[in-house]
Amino acid sequence: MQNSYLKSRFNDLFATPSNPTLFFSPGRVNLIGEHIDYNGGSVFPAAITFGTYAAALKRDDQTIRLYSGNFPERGIIEFSLMDLEHKEDAHWSIYPKGVMDTFIKAGYPLEHGFDAYIEGNIPNGSGLSSSASLELLISQILDEFHGFGVSMIDKVKFSQIAENQYVGVNCGIMDQFAIGMGKENAAIRLNTNNLEYEYAEADLQDCSILIMNTNKKRELAESAYNERRQQCEAALSLLKTQKDINFLCDLNVIEFNGILEAFGENTLLYRRAKHCITENERVKNAVEALADGDLEIFGKLLNQSHISLRDDYEVTGYELDTIVKLAWEQDGVLGARMTGAGFGGCAIALVKNQKLEAIQAAIAKGYQEIIGYPADFYVASIGGGTRTLS
Ligand code: GLA
Repeated sequence: MQNSYLKSRFNDLFATPSNPTLFFSPGRVNLIGEHIDYNGGSVFPAAITFGTYAAALKRDDQTIRLYSGNFPERGIIEFSLMDLEHKEDAHWSIYPKGVMDTFIKAGYPLEHGFDAYIEGNIPNGSGLSSSASLELLISQILDEFHGFGVSMIDKVKFSQIAENQYVGVNCGIMDQFAIGMGKENAAIRLNTNNLEYEYAEADLQDCSILIMNTNKKRELAESAYNERRQQCEAALSLLKTQKDINFLCDLNVIEFNGILEAFGENTLLYRRAKHCITENERVKNAVEALADGDLEIFGKLLNQSHISLRDDYEVTGYELDTIVKLAWEQDGVLGARMTGAGFGGCAIALVKNQKLEAIQAAIAKGYQEIIGYPADFYVASIGGGTRTLS
């Protein structure tokens, strides 16, 4: 998005010829390691070049005025930093308010409001983390305008707290971490147990990551997500009767298979735990495969991840399964899987560049025929994390 565009939208809206500061916060894809960031597992996401932009100007009073180019029908949303109470009609401003509330509760008094024009190019509801992108964007603006010098890791944590405690979605830390800490051309291997992380060069050789958006709205995703989380906690307490562990992902597959009697007849909790523990091992193997330049193996692990999410964790659904299966059927696709929370949203495929157009066309055609509405496609570029642009 052009700087001049953002500035002129700002000036038109707030009628103050001025020079706002520009900010950017990316979306993310997760290459592999799904639904284990709340089970002490390792995940392997990357920030993408799609994201959320802001042109913002600090105010002397405590008023906040926000306008989203993605929700023009909502107009300018105005509120005071003195009144951040959770309100049902907050719509998209629930995320900014949650972050502001979290900063204050963490001991960062917010003396200055601001005006901001915000616009993003992450497809809404696609599972590429437009909400975490917005949370980090607001964290960055607050930090910049107050000169707090909050570390990016703390901005990541505050954004997750806002999502958990204010918005009420019990997400893990993966999305906020990938968005805040993203780096160009690098995926992040993050151990969610202790937040140790390392960057891994995303050298995809003659391949690209094709993002396939099912355009299926993620209905009831939040309640199903919270339900999965509870099931993992229930599975953990069963396993704890056999072994002293803090998280499901403290177990490797061999250890897990040795204490299966913990589940008794409870096959549901067994399958939920099995997904988490095998997925954690797949991440380890996928990171190694990528480092070794073995994209064939990397692709196979993506496939296994999808199957596990489909059969054991049950978070895929008809649209995601259809698009992933169509991808699997194409010559030149090394692997494909859903990405993010699931229940709709996006899948990714590792695709040979040479065949990319033909593959995309074939999947698009098949998807339209089976599902009855089109999918969207984007080639992912891995970019940097949340930042102030000027
Ligand atoms: C959502 C959550 C993340 C993570 C993924 C599933 O994106 O926000 O914390 O749990 O789902 O891997």
